[in-house]
Amino acid sequence: MLEQFKKDVDTGLSASPKYLSSKYFYDDIGSQIFQEIMAMPEYYLTDSEFEILSLQAKQIAEKVNFKKPFNIIELGAGDGYKTIKLLKNFKELGLEFTYIPVDISKKAIDILSEKVTKEIPEIKLKSHVGDYFNLLNNLPNNIPSLVLFLGSNIGNFKKEDAQSFLNLVQSHLNPNDKLLIGFDLQKNPIIIKNAYDDLHGITKAFNMNLLHRINKELGADFRLDKFDFYCHYNPISGEVKSYLVSLKKQDVHITSLNKTFSFDFNELIWTELSKKYSFNQIEELSMNTGFKLDYNFLDCKHYFTDSLWSK
Ligand code: AVJ
Repeated sequence: MLEQFKKDVDTGLSASPKYLSSKYFYDDIGSQIFQEIMAMPEYYLTDSEFEILSLQAKQIAEKVNFKKPFNIIELGAGDGYKTIKLLKNFKELGLEFTYIPVDISKKAIDILSEKVTKEIPEIKLKSHVGDYFNLLNNLPNNIPSLVLFLGSNIGNFKKEDAQSFLNLVQSHLNPNDKLLIGFDLQKNPIIIKNAYDDLHGITKAFNMNLLHRINKELGADFRLDKFDFYCHYNPISGEVKSYLVSLKKQDVHITSLNKTFSFDFNELIWTELSKKYSFNQIEELSMNTGFKLDYNFLDCKHYFTDSLWSK
């Protein structure tokens, strides 16, 4: 873990232009800040997907159409807030399933498992700490699986990475398995801008925490007051890109790499891509990765879709 982090920080800060991966946002503090982001009124994604899973569970179950007990495998389960709603609704409809949340963070899985058992005491739960594909490799082929990849997590992937990730998921699924995948839709650019460039400074803190984390875990001396946050939505490409900006020409030493990195005045570090999709792009992505798009479940404002794909 730490070795990979070191390596990725070294590669990203040695590159031109510099970058760091948003997957490193989520240490304990970062996960806490992300909870605050999800609670902001401007961050419509959570509310939109919550609405879909709350109001359309029955329609989802009908389209999934598994006749016997099945698995619900959630990739990168997070805090479970939205998923628990879906699971509750499925239970009330009398569906029989085992919930298998997968996450690399043991802490995240422990918290989630406790919450799920508390909210749905009768649930069959088999949590899994580790790599997604280890689990998908060992799927029993006598029980169908509904794989969940919610929350617009796919938005963090560049086009080629989204394709290879989904190709890999596809190749691990049995013929009758299905994927329910969340996409944030292209919409009025002002709404998207406000969700990321928030006036509370929470998204800024989320990005800054990455530098704090490098200071803590890799022994660096980033001065947080000498960096700022900038983000930008390009409605033509559908991409939100987030950056840290160096406020002066400065050197930063990273002890565990035994290296010094130089930053120019106003130099950027690219930290995150949050891609917004059109329906055509979703359809294209499903086709390019060997899936068939069965149905798009939309919220009432048409901000977000949970897209149901089969093999
Ligand atoms: C967790 C990847 C869906 O890109 O919208 C929120 C993370 N970044 N605000 C997103 C995030 C800035 C989020 N995802």
